[in-house]
Amino acid sequence: MTTPLLKSGPPGRDINTLRQEIGLVGESPAIWQILETIEQVAPTDISVLIIGESGTGKELIAQAIHQLGLRRDKPFVVVNAGAIPEGIIESELFGHEKGAFTGAVGSRKGYFEQADTGTIFLDEIGEMPLNTQVKLLRLLEGKEFIRVGGSSPKQVDVRVIAATNRDLESAVRKGEFRPDLFYRLNAVNIRVPSLRERREDIPLLVKKFVTDFCSQNNIAFEGFTDGALRLLREHSWPGNIRELKNFVESLIVIERGRRIDDMILQRHLPRGVEMDHRLPVPVNRTTEEVEREFIYRALIDLKNEIAQLRELLVGRYIAPPRRLKSGLMEAPVIQEVGNEVAEFDDDHQNPAAFESIEDMEKRLITEALARTQGNKRKAAGLLKISERTLYRKIKEYNLPF
Ligand SMILES: Nc1ncnc2c1ncn2[C@@H]1O[C@H](COP(=O)(O)OP(=O)(O)OP(=O)(O)O)[C@@H](O)[C@H]1O
Ligand SMILES: [Mg+2]
Repeated sequence: MTTPLLKSGPPGRDINTLRQEIGLVGESPAIWQILETIEQVAPTDISVLIIGESGTGKELIAQAIHQLGLRRDKPFVVVNAGAIPEGIIESELFGHEKGAFTGAVGSRKGYFEQADTGTIFLDEIGEMPLNTQVKLLRLLEGKEFIRVGGSSPKQVDVRVIAATNRDLESAVRKGEFRPDLFYRLNAVNIRVPSLRERREDIPLLVKKFVTDFCSQNNIAFEGFTDGALRLLREHSWPGNIRELKNFVESLIVIERGRRIDDMILQRHLPRGVEMDHRLPVPVNRTTEEVEREFIYRALIDLKNEIAQLRELLVGRYIAPPRRLKSGLMEAPVIQEVGNEVAEFDDDHQNPAAFESIEDMEKRLITEALARTQGNKRKAAGLLKISERTLYRKIKEYNLPF
């Protein structure tokens, strides 16, 4: 199948050139269909809603629409509605005036003003709070908005592309998403299939990731055997293209560039979501649920590490057996520190010695913030939770940050 060239586009710039420039790989029928839609919608200002599991390439598609459209030389602003704490989302989107709230020492443009004349990409739109949705709709319909703490309406000329990995129609039915905003954003929708629905693209994607990674890092890689490629094709990749990319890159590093056959690959392939917390977010669950799972998995890992440490400590502080005058070996004795160790080791009978999940969460959050000098975005990244969840937990635990 071929795609028609964009007639209104500038000379020499068609979707195939663009595909190469932004690195959008794939030859499956689903990808060709998406490319056709991109070509059709790019030269218009119509709103586009991109729906797909995490890591399927929604942002790349949004970029392609912007790059192929008439606003290509204007800003492309990405906003992740799920990562912005609820309390500041409106000032982030619409800006604020000086003195609008404590700490608003000056006025500031929001993302919509920054995107003026260009495109705004509203990622994770399903996470947007309902009262912000009202303001967003007002802006989209009248192209007018008011900065937080301001009084005069402002105007922007912005193209909107939104994305979601949630089923927005069911969110509408549950009253969690406004139907009028849904229809406004959903003028055209693009469904991006999961990677397991287009396995034929896997070898092409692997080839691209290998080439890019090796040339960027100056690595000589001997390649995958056919058997290894077949396994990569058969795997389910719940984290989609992002997971495949991370997996291929880390494998090249771990195996130091040597040829990878099916045996080696098998050893490294993630066996399931439950077993591997590096896996990206599966989509039929809410972000909150998945984040909670990430935290629990991190806590379980931490507990295992603590248990291992404890074993190590016990081993260390048990005094080596001494030879008695009789020539027999003395029974091992736990030395002074050993008393603590013994107490520690016995903690299933001593609840005070066991840290609660809440305390562990507090400690992990405090540690992450200390390590990032209080930078909440980076700390949330370390903890693998959204910034919004981090803010919520800081508040919930009344932590001094
Ligand atoms: N068709 C593709 N060809 C090559 N690389 C791709 C393709 N689609 C996605 N990628 C790469 O996969 C990664 C994830 O893509 P992207 O960020 O666009 O996904 P997403 O759907 O927005 O994910 P999320 O829902 O988690 O935000 C990026 O590194 C991107 O460059
Ligand atoms: Mg994205």
